[in-house]
Amino acid sequence: MTVHAYQRDLVRDEVLRGLSAPRKHLPCRLLYDARGAELFEQICTLEEYYPTRTELALLEEHLPALAAAIGPQARVVEPGSGAGQKTRMLLTALDRPVGYVPIDISREQLEVNARALREEFPGLEVQPICGDYTSPLELPRPTRPGARTVAFFPGSTIGNFEPDEARAFLARLAHLAGRDGMLLLGADANNDRASLERAYDDGQGVTAAFDKNVLAHVNRTHDATFELDAFTHRAVWDASHHRVEMHLVSMRTQTVRVGADVIRFERGEPIVTEHCYKHPREAMAAMLADAGWRALRVDADARGRMHLWLAGC
Ligand code: AVI
Repeated sequence: MTVHAYQRDLVRDEVLRGLSAPRKHLPCRLLYDARGAELFEQICTLEEYYPTRTELALLEEHLPALAAAIGPQARVVEPGSGAGQKTRMLLTALDRPVGYVPIDISREQLEVNARALREEFPGLEVQPICGDYTSPLELPRPTRPGARTVAFFPGSTIGNFEPDEARAFLARLAHLAGRDGMLLLGADANNDRASLERAYDDGQGVTAAFDKNVLAHVNRTHDATFELDAFTHRAVWDASHHRVEMHLVSMRTQTVRVGADVIRFERGEPIVTEHCYKHPREAMAAMLADAGWRALRVDADARGRMHLWLAGC
């Protein structure tokens, strides 16, 4: 059996386990195929989806002070698809950064971005790692080690981890950053139900299309028969868990085939497709401390919805 077929079987088992659970769910990473990534880019431009523009404004305002605190000749490590606007803002603000290590599952995207950054930042050593940043990784040996390593994790993606996973992930970043390492982290602290449910169920239906795309993805990759029109998207703020849940709700009693397996849905039964945890200041400070980080500063927007954390090892 090839590695590809083996991994495909693992994902199929995970999909089937999720759809057979009392509370049906799908792995949220399946939202991000090529179409899902495109739709997520659109979400980031929506009026209702405040995290992206609020975080960009925070970076714009506070990067000079953050860069001064980080100091010269830093090496930046970025889990997730980097080389977007925020990466460029950070690399531009820093004083003579020596290296940049983007970590992403998509080799193509890594190579395109690495080429562009090498041209834009001559002298910056770009050393992409192709892999799943949620698993343990070692950094490549740099030509010049730099003064310190800074892990950059913007976008409130930390909110898509379950709390234990988030803690473990932040601890792994502390290990990667090493002695004198730093972390620049973007987190969403909002707890206002109305604005959250709008942000995750926008008026144009882009988030609904993004959510339903997971069914198209499973149909394509796992020989499934989901009818996209037989499900409706819903965003639910669960105050007790401090998270928005994305649901796809079955509009009728129906059965769906996934390969040789048959899954039954009651009318009104949801599939949970994503958890988006929100981290109030005290909770995030505690999580950082548990993961081996010391919070150095936190910058928030006027409404206190988005936070930029700078932490040291
Ligand atoms: C990628 N991540 C930070 C987004 C979020 O806000 O949790 C994913 C998303 N899902 C629906 N809208 C945006």
